[in-house]
Amino acid sequence: MKKPKYHIFVCTSSRVNGQQKGYCHSNAGVEIVMKFMEEIEERELEGEVYVSNTGCFAICDKGPIVVIYPDNVWYGSVKPKDVEEIMDEHIEGGNVVKRLEI
Ligand code: FES
Repeated sequence: MKKPKYHIFVCTSSRVNGQQKGYCHSNAGVEIVMKFMEEIEERELEGEVYVSNTGCFAICDKGPIVVIYPDNVWYGSVKPKDVEEIMDEHIEGGNVVKRLEI
């Protein structure tokens, strides 16, 4: 198994009982995941960059939350329209998007 260069975690407020209910889910968490999936496919980065949805990070007031490993960079108040910038600047450019960092 090849490990990814980047793993992007997006809070969709997923709960262990299968429900998705909470701040990030109500504020486009699923759309953000879908947008990352589209961008990864369009840029032919499958296998190098993974995206996963997660449960609550307990900082809902800063949500929607996106966490990028191995860099341990946390982004807050992310909107679907920010995904392209995160892909350009962080994933492909290697630079943290300071305006979204928390
Ligand atoms: S629901 Fe996303 S951080 Fe709490």
